[in-house]
Amino acid sequence: MEFKKNILCIGAGYVGGPTMAVIALKCPGYRIEVVDINEERIREWNSDDIPIYEPGLEEIVKQVRGKNLFFTTDIAKGIKQADIIFVSVNTPTKTFGEGAGMASDLQFWEETAHIIIENANNNKIIVEKSTLPVRTAEAMERILKASNRGIQFEVVSNPEFLAEGSAIPDLLEPDRVLIGAHRTPAGREAEKEIVDLYAHWVPRENIITTNLWSSELSKLVANAFLAQRISSINAVSSLCEKTDADISEIAYAVGSDSRIGRKFLNASVGFGGSCFKKDILNLVYISRSYGLTEVADYWQMVVSMNEHQKSRFVQRIVREMFNTVAGKKIALFGFAFKANTGDTRESPAIDITKKLLEERAIVSITDPKALNNARIDLKGIDRNVLYEPDPYKAAEEASAVAIMTEWEEFKILDYERIYQSMKKPAFIFDGRNLLNHKQLYEIGFNVYPIGKTPLTHFE
Ligand code: NAD
Ligand code: UDX
Repeated sequence: MEFKKNILCIGAGYVGGPTMAVIALKCPGYRIEVVDINEERIREWNSDDIPIYEPGLEEIVKQVRGKNLFFTTDIAKGIKQADIIFVSVNTPTKTFGEGAGMASDLQFWEETAHIIIENANNNKIIVEKSTLPVRTAEAMERILKASNRGIQFEVVSNPEFLAEGSAIPDLLEPDRVLIGAHRTPAGREAEKEIVDLYAHWVPRENIITTNLWSSELSKLVANAFLAQRISSINAVSSLCEKTDADISEIAYAVGSDSRIGRKFLNASVGFGGSCFKKDILNLVYISRSYGLTEVADYWQMVVSMNEHQKSRFVQRIVREMFNTVAGKKIALFGFAFKANTGDTRESPAIDITKKLLEERAIVSITDPKALNNARIDLKGIDRNVLYEPDPYKAAEEASAVAIMTEWEEFKILDYERIYQSMKKPAFIFDGRNLLNHKQLYEIGFNVYPIGKTPLTHFE
């Protein structure tokens, strides 16, 4: 079959894989190839056991793989064939040198620019899909133009707003698609190509076009605003625990103001995921590098509040369990950073486990999808860690259960049975306010939700 356009995506990760699967599904006239330097990952994408758990993804991949969606490691060939190249490589926080711990590490990004010039033999549109510092396109253009081979590269920004666990519905029905391009004739032309691609399934009024720098910066700002809501509600949750106010009632009352809105006001043990912390730190770094100290300090507090919420959670466990958890078994229900994903990047459960191990607890971890990643995260420090797929076994002989992830599975467990198998007094620390606290109290548990009065049987 003759395809209208050839699209290449460099980076077959949590964004590249699902995004290209949905584009392939919605644009049967386009040939999509996804490449990665990680051969194992490409092998998995071509197998029955795809490397990412995301509801609805497997079905779509099976439908389009081998028809107009291909996963390969031949990056050079992919570049030669492509009209449009999406770059969706990882942009983690730098761990070394200038800006370590704050700035984005752009080495994977820059590497792709070099591979593109080495292999390109005709004009290309380069689409920034990765989340990048504002004005990165400028650097990309300088590298691409340095080749002097008469090839035109037009860089377009198209940040991705999908959230893990709901990637497929987010991609199928996005609130908006954002496309940033230069306000030049060539920029406008490239912008139109990308608009036309999304217009196959996204209503035109939901496709926003802006200048390149607004698009790049909007992505960092969107994540900063979302994370700021969680840090705000978490800050209030600690005040609730001191005053007998109830954080769920407050979130409802406050969120009912249509200017504020109900979503993203769930108090929790803290936010995790590969994006929020790294993108806010990047925003902080950029602000500081422009001399905007107060702006940098403002956003930094969103991250600091999140660290505080995690520390506070463990301090509360230790304090309430008679100031020691040494030698006590504590069952962590959930290790993924949120429900419906096996991803554990920056999961609060990692820090909570480390802190509990420092207190010499025995930590028993259960999670429906994230146990393999938990093993990798805790490698070398897991002498006192148990990995247990069955939550009932994880809780056996434990003194406490701590809810880390809001998996639906945890809601419907037989807590009477769990209570019977645990040491007494039995504690539940609900880091997601997921469970029915009154019922648990009636079973006999001492229950400690986030931002609510504890329900205990102590005098
Ligand atoms: P990921 O680590 O899952 O995937 C990135 C992939 O790029 C890896 O498989 C890696 O091997 C590959 N790669 C790195 N250098 C390469 C190269 N030179 N050539 C070919 N492949 C290369 O990362 P991700 O979660 O998909 O994130 C990708 C980008 O999207 C990041 O900038 C991230 O901030 C952004 N983003 C992520 C999410 C999310 O929910 N995960 C959401 C929105 C935006
Ligand atoms: C986020 C953004 O939502 C998404 O738009 C962006 O593209 C990538 O970063 P993601 O990290 O996948 O997505 O998940 P998200 O649903 O935002 O959750 C992030 C963290 O915040 C999770 O740990 C989640 O449990 C926590 N959270 C979320 C809360 O603690 N309370 C809430 O009310 C919402």
